[in-house]
Amino acid sequence: MSTEPQIVRTQVGIVGGGPAGLMLSHLLSRAGIENIVIEKRDHETIYKTHRAGILEAGSVRMLTETGIDGRVLTHGHRHDGIDLRFKGVSHRLDFQDLVGESVWLYPQNEVFFDLAAARARDGGDVRYSVTESEVLDLETAVPKIRFTDATGQRFEVHADFIAGTDGSQGICKRAIPAQERSDHFIAYPFAWFGILTEAPPSAPELIYAHSEHGFALISQRSGNVQRMYFQCDPAEDASTWSDERIWAELQRRVDGPDGFTLKRGPIFEKMVLPFRSYVCEPLRFGNLFLAGDAGHTVPPTGAKGLNLALADVKVLFEALESFYGTGSSELVDGYSDTALERVWKAQNFSYWMTTMLHSREDQSTFERQRILGELEGVVNSRYGQQYLAEAYTGWPHR
Ligand code: DHB
Repeated sequence: MSTEPQIVRTQVGIVGGGPAGLMLSHLLSRAGIENIVIEKRDHETIYKTHRAGILEAGSVRMLTETGIDGRVLTHGHRHDGIDLRFKGVSHRLDFQDLVGESVWLYPQNEVFFDLAAARARDGGDVRYSVTESEVLDLETAVPKIRFTDATGQRFEVHADFIAGTDGSQGICKRAIPAQERSDHFIAYPFAWFGILTEAPPSAPELIYAHSEHGFALISQRSGNVQRMYFQCDPAEDASTWSDERIWAELQRRVDGPDGFTLKRGPIFEKMVLPFRSYVCEPLRFGNLFLAGDAGHTVPPTGAKGLNLALADVKVLFEALESFYGTGSSELVDGYSDTALERVWKAQNFSYWMTTMLHSREDQSTFERQRILGELEGVVNSRYGQQYLAEAYTGWPHR
């Protein structure tokens, strides 16, 4: 095999073939802008990675209005509200009544599956299972991606722009010299224990439960598979928990005078999800642009991660389309500021939902009572409910 890399010329090189990278590739191709996606994992591994399950209305529109031809409308489920539960009492927030929007329960791995199928259908250039990838010459007019493909062939992509959509552990953010970026970061003293169970839904809509024993989220996947989470220690080892112990822990966090009881079934997946808030600023270095988790991470409460990634992609796509259509780099130059405006709103929302719903072991009685006051303030006020509903269903895309 030759050691000389094969040179491939394209307009936009995309590092990372998760939902953000594939959506960007899809939009660019539709606009006639050449692009190549590289991804280190294989299709199967990405598809089997369980992530959050809630799509904002705007994310659904991005899928349905751009010809993804996905199954979100046929296999997803529209949710017009959620339950906020505390002191053992449920309070329904009616999103349609409050803000005239809904969300869709449609897992991220299905979004990936639909996007990958659309790219394959449309002849998109997506290289899975690549190794030895690196990005270089980012501050020049010809930024490059080097990689080895699944057959062992070396490539060097010469592009006008590189999009870093390679997630929080990716190579793109790390290619930005430390003195060229600010890392805004906070850690939390807890994580989520997530399960998948073969059981009927316990309730018609998602339940976000705050209790003295900690937070629990009763989510869903389908008529016979449910997704649930409960707040745990970040060092927790999921494999040591029996089904019985998990059900008891979940149940005591939703217990209340209404006698609400979770519908149990066999648990076939257990995992501990890390928790952090992070923003890289700016989301640009030379001709490298970060989008999605590559540039920022939110804690899972409120399911903003994928939605934020798709919103970044929309802004980045429109900037690139404008550049190739008009020659003006105004929107490209504005990408980071424009995207970060929504990112910081979502950071605040995710942080707020997290701190309002979780409890800390070292919490003072003042803090415990203050949180209950905050929850009462939300559910007893139409304005409070509307703030939550607007953020949860997603601010309008610009
Ligand atoms: C799910 C995850 C979330 O973080 C959330 O806020 C709602 C739902 C889920 O995986 O179903």
